[in-house]
Amino acid sequence: MSRIYRIALIPGDGTGPEVIAEGLKTLNALSKIYRIKFEFKDLGLGGDRYLKDGILVPEGLIEDLKNNYDAIYLGAIGHPDVKPGILERGILLRLRFDLDLYINLRPVILLPGVYTPLRDKGPSDIDFVVVRENTEGMYVGAGGFLNKGSNDEVAIQESINTKKGVERCIRYAFEYCKKRNKKKLLTLCAKTNVLNYESDLWLRVFEEISNDYPDINTNYQHVDALCMWMIKNPEQFDVIVTNNMFGDIITDIGAIIQGGLGIAAGGNINPGKIAMFEPIGGSAPKYARQNKINPLAAICAAQMMLEYLNEDNAAKLLMDAIKDVVKRLDSLEAGRMGYTTTEVGDMVVEYIKENG
Ligand code: IPM
Ligand code: MG
Repeated sequence: MSRIYRIALIPGDGTGPEVIAEGLKTLNALSKIYRIKFEFKDLGLGGDRYLKDGILVPEGLIEDLKNNYDAIYLGAIGHPDVKPGILERGILLRLRFDLDLYINLRPVILLPGVYTPLRDKGPSDIDFVVVRENTEGMYVGAGGFLNKGSNDEVAIQESINTKKGVERCIRYAFEYCKKRNKKKLLTLCAKTNVLNYESDLWLRVFEEISNDYPDINTNYQHVDALCMWMIKNPEQFDVIVTNNMFGDIITDIGAIIQGGLGIAAGGNINPGKIAMFEPIGGSAPKYARQNKINPLAAICAAQMMLEYLNEDNAAKLLMDAIKDVVKRLDSLEAGRMGYTTTEVGDMVVEYIKENG
């Protein structure tokens, strides 16, 4: 009997469809070896759909996803003909919020043979994971304008932090750190010297929950200092937990030190329920339909999805394949890989077939 997973696809905009196609090739190759059955359903969302009929997320889709799917595999959201913010808020953030995907998990792991802009740092130095809160903070969109457009205009953007929301995120990070079983060090990233309400709550909850995890060491860093340390001494980190906005910012530093957007992936997770996996590089419209974009970030997202589905053997083989292929590329940048998008996907598939 094979295990069956229902996966909703959002190839999305720009280079999204090209990289998702390569990810699906690798998943299909693995499914033959491990007797896993994937049922893929393309949801057809993105900029083109929005321009055609104005629909971002159709009515009833959220419930359908909650009830009938194990995971979502997303390519990219962002279209040159749509004003920035509409698709991001209307599709990506909508799914994160309405599916309550409260964890954004972003590994920052430099694989052997991958170029990092940090001189004198290698794979043993860049090996940590950021747990970003994904449903609260500044992303809630709370606030408003007063006297908009006038010289007396006031713009207010509020950061919403609930004790429950902070708690579940921090608890997940402790559990993740325990399971990761490396340095056993969880760092809280906040800004207690300025954000006297928000960061105060985060620190109190962090200290409270740490009592339940005597084997995990804890550390606190202000976000600005942490940005500096990610560059200067990334080897100190194991797991970092932080709010939505800080997590957004520091994981872009993470992406570049792990080799760039060609390799960086993340998971939006509601533990035990549904999750959405994505390359974090965006839609890169200037490379669309040229067979030049690096599909490895999307393939890494598929790898995270297999881990989430507890398909450990398939996840491990796919990681081995990724490690083998990255070493053979000239660069991880679009157009400079020495291979096309489809060739890189084929190389991953070949490795799977030969070693599975
Ligand atoms: C990310 C992206 C999104 C975010 C944008 C596209 C809304 O930057 O996934 O990090 O800010 O969360
Ligand atoms: Mg971001």
